[in-house]
Amino acid sequence: MGFDEMDVDTIWMDGEFVPWDEAQVHVLTHSLHYGTAVFEGVRCYETERGPALFRWDEHLDRLYKSARPLDHDIEHDPEELTEATTELIRRQELESCYIRPLVYYGYNSLGVSPKECPTRTMIACWPWGTYLGEEALEEGVDVMVSSWRKHHSSQIPTNVKATGPYINSMLAGEEARRNGYVEAIVLNKEGDVAEGPGENIFMVNDGEIYTPGLSESILDGITRRTVIELARDLGYTVHDEASIGRGQLYTADELFFSGTAAEVTPIRTVDDNVIGDGSRGPVTEDIQSRFFDVVERRTDDHDDWFTYVEME
Ligand SMILES: Cc1ncc(COP(=O)(O)O)c(C=O)c1O
Repeated sequence: MGFDEMDVDTIWMDGEFVPWDEAQVHVLTHSLHYGTAVFEGVRCYETERGPALFRWDEHLDRLYKSARPLDHDIEHDPEELTEATTELIRRQELESCYIRPLVYYGYNSLGVSPKECPTRTMIACWPWGTYLGEEALEEGVDVMVSSWRKHHSSQIPTNVKATGPYINSMLAGEEARRNGYVEAIVLNKEGDVAEGPGENIFMVNDGEIYTPGLSESILDGITRRTVIELARDLGYTVHDEASIGRGQLYTADELFFSGTAAEVTPIRTVDDNVIGDGSRGPVTEDIQSRFFDVVERRTDDHDDWFTYVEME
């Protein structure tokens, strides 16, 4: 669904609430040319206590950390970004939404060096359903191993959420969709499994859970951290520094993606090889159901993961 079909009207830009259609930048904006922005993607869930931002503080922390290697000096403190976001949700009466904060080099000069360009910040929120489709959450998705490799962290900092590297995600995802798959799995430079274009990946074998470690050129996903913690709460053994070879994907008992967008999505085939019995496996289902119980607040534990928005 395009933005024009959504009931949203305000964007926060550099300290001001701006009408949606007026939230514009100059075509010579530095980050538009060199991919030098950093960003976050956060979900706000509908709960009985009103809209609730999921692990907002950790997303903000990652945003400020992502800004460092690119030398962005964010003029706004976390409290101001939190207030801006909650106010956007209130003003637009959003019961649930996706939140996109972006920090970018603006307009001034166009050398590769951004040092004469101001760091600018924007936040937008809009209603958003499931990323890979409702059916995907139950049935699982068909994926292919991409012919594109993930960059190595010696080439680009893979642990920061910068816009430029998303060319890799776009190419891998579009390659998969062109070939009739829903999503891709991207291998790292060494040829081991890294992650999806916008998701981390988990493998289940003999009831134990494996996920590539942070040194495998992956993003330190906040949903990944959540899954690891919830799975351990449920009594599973989680190997969170695993190195997973491509062949292990094909023989896995279960595979699933995690991410703010994908939440917990089962994978039912990889390169047309059926995983397990070709449907959501029992461990995936257990973790997925615990995940949704927590984020939709059907349980009262982990309340510290939520920032509730007072709708007044
Ligand atoms: C490349 C990549 N890996 C993993 C993730 C999952 O991270 P998170 O759970 O913080 O959304 C994302 C999504 O932001 C991503 O873009």
